[in-house]
Amino acid sequence: MRVAGIMTGTSLDGIDVAIVDIPRLSALKVVAHTTIPYSKPVREAILAVSNRDCHTAEISRLHFLLPELYATALRDLCLREEIPLDSIELIGSHGQTIFHEDTPAEVAKQKVASTLQIGDGSVLADRTGIPVVSDFRPRDMAAGGKGAPLVPYADYLLFRDRKRGRVTLNIGGIANVTAIPPSAAPDQVIAFDTGPGNMVMDQLVSHATGGKLTYDRDGKFSRRGKASRELLARLMDDPYYMQRPPKTAGREQYGSEFVETMLASGLPPEDLVATAALLTASTIASAIGKFVRPRQPVDDLIVSGGGARNPVLMDELRVMLPGVELEHSGKYGIDGDAKEAVAFAILAHETWRRRPSNLPSATGARRGVILGKVSFA
Ligand SMILES: Nc1ncnc2c1ncn2[C@@H]1O[C@H](COP(=O)(O)OP(=O)(O)O)[C@@H](O)[C@H]1O
Ligand SMILES: [Mg+2]
Repeated sequence: MRVAGIMTGTSLDGIDVAIVDIPRLSALKVVAHTTIPYSKPVREAILAVSNRDCHTAEISRLHFLLPELYATALRDLCLREEIPLDSIELIGSHGQTIFHEDTPAEVAKQKVASTLQIGDGSVLADRTGIPVVSDFRPRDMAAGGKGAPLVPYADYLLFRDRKRGRVTLNIGGIANVTAIPPSAAPDQVIAFDTGPGNMVMDQLVSHATGGKLTYDRDGKFSRRGKASRELLARLMDDPYYMQRPPKTAGREQYGSEFVETMLASGLPPEDLVATAALLTASTIASAIGKFVRPRQPVDDLIVSGGGARNPVLMDELRVMLPGVELEHSGKYGIDGDAKEAVAFAILAHETWRRRPSNLPSATGARRGVILGKVSFA
């Protein structure tokens, strides 16, 4: 089956699209992939409705605009790669998370956990002529899970090994790990967010350049700066890092308030970005030490996401994790920029086949459930 996966993550950098051939799950092949950057107005419009006060009209409009952009992104990739659009049999579309609260909060005197991804599946199905599975997270949450992370199911299929203990690390806006012991059964896999990925660095760079630059390309800022140990210690003094998995972190944890605290230190921008890079690397390394190593050997660390292209981060991780083979996921046949889009193609494939694809050991759900909603073309 040929399936397209479409992913838009918390970094708001753009739309990741992957086209994957899945004759069977053990013989998956990525045929093509791309990232289409969000335009500045689109990024700003999403930010304006992400975890903040806004008018519901803005949300509703974006909910219908995003699938238009997704359809165009997929169409463009097909044109570029000379892949007939109608050779694609199914689309898995994650949508854009604008709110995620997996710890119950009070509303109307009751407590509920909730999550909201926008980007309507019906519109995408109509514009492409392809059935769409979308809105994957609510089903897991309904079953008592945190609705995240969902990529571990794909990690398990793609990267497990009989002999080597493996950890996959995705450094997006948030950083997360999936830990897969040698010869693991699915219920032995754990996964969780370690803390910030790129999003603190992104905001600092954007602040320092008045919005001209949106991220620390190739680690140029942080390389020029000197991380503040004192500020780092203060930032790491957060109960989240001690909390046992399953756990998820979000934009709300590392948003503008967090950055304001850093700016208040008065350090120069380069030092702040260097400190943020060290925070990302340190929280990843310490999470692996605290929560993964006691359960399994860590032979390989397989890195994906935009942060894998930040050499400063990679170097820091190598130093902090001696004895671990650190490789980009591309070495295993899955390009680091495409991995999450590939994962949602796999999840859609599973839903289409009526198979559960959450890992209860990763999300905390009571049981495996078939994820998502199907929109027919
Ligand atoms: N060459 C690079 N150098 C440093 N950071 C990079 C580079 N390319 C991408 N990034 C970082 O990766 C982020 C995008 O990563 P991505 O995996 O798409 O995250 P998300 O899943 O949250 O959208 C960018 O915001 C940027 O911080
Ligand atoms: Mg992205």
